[in-house]
Amino acid sequence: MLQSLDMKHTPALVIGNWKLNPGTPAEAKLLFSELRKKVSKNCEATVVIAPPFIFIPEVAKTTHSAIALAAQDVHYEERGAVTGEIGAGMLASFGVQYVLIGHSERRALGETDAQVNKKVHAALKRKLVPVVCIGERTRDAQGQFYLDIAAQIKALTSGLTAQQLSKVVIAYEPIWAIGTGLTATAENVREMQLFIVSTITKLFERKVAERVRLIYGGSVKESNAKELYKEGGMNGFLVGGASLQATEFAAIINATELA
Ligand code: PGA
Repeated sequence: MLQSLDMKHTPALVIGNWKLNPGTPAEAKLLFSELRKKVSKNCEATVVIAPPFIFIPEVAKTTHSAIALAAQDVHYEERGAVTGEIGAGMLASFGVQYVLIGHSERRALGETDAQVNKKVHAALKRKLVPVVCIGERTRDAQGQFYLDIAAQIKALTSGLTAQQLSKVVIAYEPIWAIGTGLTATAENVREMQLFIVSTITKLFERKVAERVRLIYGGSVKESNAKELYKEGGMNGFLVGGASLQATEFAAIINATELA
């Protein structure tokens, strides 16, 4: 049905999502500096860390050219009466370059596809790279879950120009694989890569679809990274648990260079 497509034309993108970790600024600083020691300035991959909002200023002080910063969420308003939220302009002013949007753990708290789309627009307006998470809750033998994925893609890309879409990263994160130790097989990832490209092709055109960076997330570890990267056809990883151990995270980055 779909042609194979090699997306390895750009360096890998490897993002560490710290979620609600670690516990203190001192621990965040330590984890970040351990990572800095392990990620060489000549590393080919683009390495990004997404600490909790409150640790961003601390980590930003010690960030170096080989590691960029992401936020784990952003609000679609820039200012106003929205208690507890952080805007894209605020993030940009701290040197943040990427932002995770629509992570399944945010969607589980009620975030809708429409809000995800508004956040993508807000991030792009401030020149932040939106890393938009999509994924199915479960898989059924009939492949109905592909319809959910198509709907998520349609919603997140709504109102974007082709030029804007080329700045977006899509992170395919099957929810059943997040933090569970279950990983999609490289074949599952390859099929999904082809499906996402074909869905974007229908909404835009093939050459636009080919420019969108796709990464995989869900229990990525040193032990599975090389195969997932080599055979899965996506262009990097969104790593949760394993990004809290500098050695393991560095090994995942290396796996993208060796594959
Ligand atoms: P995990 O998390 O690597 O711990 O499965 C991935 C994510 O939630 O982005």
